[in-house]
Amino acid sequence: MKTVAVVLAAGKGSRMNTAVKKQYMEINGKPVVCHSIAAFERAGIDEIVLVTGKDDIEWCQREIVQANHFEWVTKIVAGGKERYDSVYAALQVISDADYILIHDGARPCVSTEVIWRTIEAAKETGASVAAVPVKDTIKVVNAEGIAVDTPDRSTLWSVQTPQTFAADVIRQAYEKMYRQKPEHLKITDDAMVVEHFSAHQVKIAMGDYCNIKITTMDDIPAAEQYLLGAAGQ
Ligand code: CTP
Ligand code: MG
Repeated sequence: MKTVAVVLAAGKGSRMNTAVKKQYMEINGKPVVCHSIAAFERAGIDEIVLVTGKDDIEWCQREIVQANHFEWVTKIVAGGKERYDSVYAALQVISDADYILIHDGARPCVSTEVIWRTIEAAKETGASVAAVPVKDTIKVVNAEGIAVDTPDRSTLWSVQTPQTFAADVIRQAYEKMYRQKPEHLKITDDAMVVEHFSAHQVKIAMGDYCNIKITTMDDIPAAEQYLLGAAGQ
């Protein structure tokens, strides 16, 4: 069984709005994306494809891959405008894989256990996402700022990555999506592509509350603490 991870680092980090893009900011002495790649190497994933901005490819080759001796990063490819364009670019360069794991480079605290739980779940239905039950009550709020609905919390899960798929399942779903116009669909994750464009069910794998996505500045100290905690175990 061959596993290939796609680590996404081609975003602009507009909500973070820092000079250095969030995926390259240093936490605990290394760029965020280094921690993400290292997690997949530790987990024994067979191959890693790094997706980055066109202008960052050379820098990543030198400062991320070579400087850290990441042996299993076999390709660095240029991403696209939307997250799904970046995923699609990676799918084009993966030739042989049984399972493809898609991971936000901005989630540096992912554990080996979570990675493998998504693979095991994907073996059951062909598609899996890491997720955790929401802790807060969630409200649906209209444009006037009025709460209009309170969905039953016990049915709500907060979705993370990796999102892991049998290779044919994710390829076929993406091909089908690109035959339509994806810009009209508000696609925010890969599981949505499979939900809309395939008959496969997406199985939830238990994620981890520490597997946060760095989005704004206040996520940085939390991620640093989680990484230190994991290293101390
Ligand atoms: N990503 C990507 N290509 C894009 C957009 C996002 O590879 N066109 C990656 C980001 O680098 C990140 C992950 O997908 O690792 C999750 O996206 P998000 O957290 O939304 O990052 P950004 O899009 O960079 O941030 P923002 O939405 O605040 O601009
Ligand atoms: Mg984004």
